[in-house]
Amino acid sequence: MSTPIDLRTDTVTRPTPEMMAAMQNASQGDDSRDGDDTVIKLEALAAQRTGKEAGLYMPSGTMTNLVAVLTHTSRAGEVLLERGAHMLNTELGGLAAVAGVFYKGIAGTRGAMDEDALREAIRPMTRNNFGTALVCMETTHNGAGGTVLPLAHMARVHALARENGVPVHTDGARLFNAAAALGVTVSDIAQHTDSVCFCVSKGLSAPVGSVLCGTKAFIERARPFRRMVGGNMRQAGSIAAAGIVAIETMAQRLTDDHHRARALAAGFHGIDAQLVDPATVETNIVRVSVAHSGRSAMQWSEAFKARGVAVSPADARSLRFVTHRHIGDAEVVHTVKACAEIRAEIG
Ligand SMILES: Cc1ncc(COP(=O)(O)O)c(C=O)c1O
Repeated sequence: MSTPIDLRTDTVTRPTPEMMAAMQNASQGDDSRDGDDTVIKLEALAAQRTGKEAGLYMPSGTMTNLVAVLTHTSRAGEVLLERGAHMLNTELGGLAAVAGVFYKGIAGTRGAMDEDALREAIRPMTRNNFGTALVCMETTHNGAGGTVLPLAHMARVHALARENGVPVHTDGARLFNAAAALGVTVSDIAQHTDSVCFCVSKGLSAPVGSVLCGTKAFIERARPFRRMVGGNMRQAGSIAAAGIVAIETMAQRLTDDHHRARALAAGFHGIDAQLVDPATVETNIVRVSVAHSGRSAMQWSEAFKARGVAVSPADARSLRFVTHRHIGDAEVVHTVKACAEIRAEIG
């Protein structure tokens, strides 16, 4: 295989020809000043798909999460979220450093917070305490290996937060993957959260961007926070145009990525059952444990690279493979073969 197989992430997906054409023909208004027609259309489409009143386009998932936290908390209180959450572990402390809030990681299983632990952690504002300002969920859950939160769990978390007067934000960077895996609509998931964001730049294949969705009032409050963190956009019509095509045409094919992730896991399992249990693969992420192999994840990653496969260590002892539009059946076969060679080499 001549081109390297890139399984590091689904953000490497390139825009489709339809996206390129839409980008070329997009409006060129100033999103910040008077609004841009294409951005407005993308935001309305995102709101419609998530079942929310309004949307706000931003450059990244990290920024949509940060702006959601700023908007919900107004820079005071504690945020509760599953302890492996992307917002807690991979967004460089933006919660505390920029949004100025405290946070507490709640123990979880496959990305779902322990509901008793969450109940115990939610606390009201007192004389000496800001209290809980926000509860966050993540689906699909990146750190847990692309797991999908069960809708019943989301409903219970939302109800619990509501009982306590606390809003809920959901990091749905791969929300469309979650919907595809559950066989439901995106709004079936988003009904269990007050705000939600999703990325058009990942498996959906658009070059850039994420949309934050919520009530009209919430999104109006979010706009100045977006500006505050440098996310105000100007002639964003071109990238928004690709985002529209992404939502309209790319969601249906995500199950192909999920099937190939499972095929990859089944192939690895056939070589060494301890590497991964294919039953744990729910979407397009495969977490492979190499702890028992006597080699580090970095050494495995280098061995894959030597065989034309790019894959990133998820931590010192595991690798994360992410399938996407540019990973077909031949790439899966090649990667499984590479794995077999590496395993044989290690002995
Ligand atoms: C669950 C989750 N949230 C947020 C993000 C951040 O997205 P971005 O890279 O666009 O900032 C990612 C990126 O992989 C993610 O997996």
